[in-house]
Amino acid sequence: MATLTLPKNSRITGKGQSHTLAGDKPGAGRIKKFKIYRYDPDSGANPRYDTFEVNLDDCGPMVLDALFKIKNEIDPTLTFRRSCREGICGSCSMNLNGKNGLACTTAIEDLKGEIRITPLPHMDVVKDLVPDFTHFYAQYASIRPWLQTVSPTPSGKERLQSPEQREQLDGLYECILCACCSTACPSYWWNSDKFLGPAILLQAYRWLADSRDEMTGERLDDLEDPFRLYRCHTIMNCANVCPKGLSPAKAIAEIKKMQVERNL
Ligand code: SF4
Ligand code: SF4
Ligand code: FES
Repeated sequence: MATLTLPKNSRITGKGQSHTLAGDKPGAGRIKKFKIYRYDPDSGANPRYDTFEVNLDDCGPMVLDALFKIKNEIDPTLTFRRSCREGICGSCSMNLNGKNGLACTTAIEDLKGEIRITPLPHMDVVKDLVPDFTHFYAQYASIRPWLQTVSPTPSGKERLQSPEQREQLDGLYECILCACCSTACPSYWWNSDKFLGPAILLQAYRWLADSRDEMTGERLDDLEDPFRLYRCHTIMNCANVCPKGLSPAKAIAEIKKMQVERNL
């Protein structure tokens, strides 16, 4: 039987703080509890959950609005990433009541009961809700995510695509690299050192599917590996959590198909 050893200081044993609304005034509005993972590796202390009560009548509708309210009005040390506030930058990805998603596009009212917020699973934590994306971005760089060509540009100015060729990128170009899919993938949890995971493989397919790219053979060679590509076992967690409605599993299946077809 496999024995798992948790990294030092990773158990949630710290006593959390509770921030209730002052005096629980009658008529204080609609109160919602947020239980939020807190961890500062530099402190040497174990992680803990802090509980914050928020008056929803005095808060915006999204989970990110509540995080801002907590940070601005209750605890300025609460740490999380965000930028666009509209599901475009991918930086506010986190785990909300057990499911990965974007804090800025998830409505508070869609999450029942007390809302438990943790960082994306199976990533090292920089602080509180901020995971370390260093390895994820290195994997992204490894697939060379840019247009690669060898022939001179036909028109001398730009490489054109027909509308049909452009359509091949639909369902791929929309990826915002939030990592919700990769950190929901059991294969990635256990093999992220070698398996590229759904997000990076979807990006790899985005360039394989681009009619203008001329490195298809080299790209497929790089992916022809028992770990980089073939650790996907079609569990489909990736497609279930993608906040942009994409299907990395389908993109992975297309890469596998290309590998088979070129070897026929
Ligand atoms: S389909 Fe593949 S990539 Fe997606 S969650 Fe499952 S194993 Fe991971
Ligand atoms: S495929 Fe979806 S879940 Fe995965 S990184 Fe891209 S946008 Fe995020
Ligand atoms: S803040 Fe940009 S996706 Fe949420």
